[in-house]
Amino acid sequence: MKMQFEHISVLAAEVVDFAPQTTQTILDCTLGGGGHSKRLLEKFPEANLYGIDRDAKALNAAADCLKNYKEQIHLEQASFSELPECFENWGEPRFDYILADIGLSSEQLARPERGFSFMHDGPLDMRMDPDRQNLTAAALVNNSSEHELLKILRDLGEERFARKIVSSILIEREKKPFETTKELADMVGNVIPRRFQKPGFNPATLTFQALRIAVNDELNELGILLKETLSRLKPDGRLAIISFHSLEDRMVKHQFRKWENPCVCPTDLPYCICGEKSLGKVITRRPVNATAQETAENPRSRSAHLRVFSSSKNAA
Ligand SMILES: C[S@@+](CC[C@H](N)C(=O)[O-])C[C@H]1O[C@@H](n2cnc3c(N)ncnc32)[C@H](O)[C@@H]1O
Repeated sequence: MKMQFEHISVLAAEVVDFAPQTTQTILDCTLGGGGHSKRLLEKFPEANLYGIDRDAKALNAAADCLKNYKEQIHLEQASFSELPECFENWGEPRFDYILADIGLSSEQLARPERGFSFMHDGPLDMRMDPDRQNLTAAALVNNSSEHELLKILRDLGEERFARKIVSSILIEREKKPFETTKELADMVGNVIPRRFQKPGFNPATLTFQALRIAVNDELNELGILLKETLSRLKPDGRLAIISFHSLEDRMVKHQFRKWENPCVCPTDLPYCICGEKSLGKVITRRPVNATAQETAENPRSRSAHLRVFSSSKNAA
């Protein structure tokens, strides 16, 4: 039976074009519905593809999407922080191309029972891996201190009405704990003054984004992904990362620049004495964004930023 998985891969042509011409071994760190992986295997039909996703439903959908490549795919349910164990299970492969298309799939957003969206009523959950993650968004909202909630909404949501929203959460949860996405979305909609609400932009967007990032520890996960992947590239191998959030894009940009130029010498020194060697080259000086045609066909692609790093020829 064909599995339904609602997701259109963003920047798909660009992702395939950035793969090295002689790609033989691929790692997809965010399989989702398997869309990017399938495109890559169509271009490199002899390649071995290794892939992970922390969401069991995504993993099943990807396995189904890639069923014609059974002999050459190795898929595991895992988060970025579990990559070292995956590498060990797979026999420590090195990759020509590593891809991460981070964030949520449209499928995760569209399912009310996953609790990611203010568009549908469902349990306030937001866990990408509900079988192995304990902390739900409801638990965060109902049990975190005022300080913790403020930090989440300000740092991860860049929500200017964080204080108002948090004050209201503290009052409301005393009367009745938050259980559903609608309860939270309605409360945020009532708290943000009408004149600051933008047409076509749900007032709860930033609150939901912040909670989702916190529940899934997404910034730490990205930090681990960056730490674990570079050393797994073959010489001249490439790491491509698509992010949808300015905090994540900034992390990727800074890490790529640091790998390219790790020198820590004072800028007024005429030559380098720190001995830090470049680990490769940033291929995309600016992030690659979706074309007007793609954003018209898939509005979700509007905020996608793709950055690519190439490891040096003599990478160990
Ligand atoms: C945007 S979707 C990927 C879509 C996929 N590229 C495609 O073409 O179908 C992102 C996927 O990454 C997964 N994901 C997000 N953070 C993750 C993490 N830290 N570890 C593993 N998977 C993660 C999500 O569960 C989701 O399925």
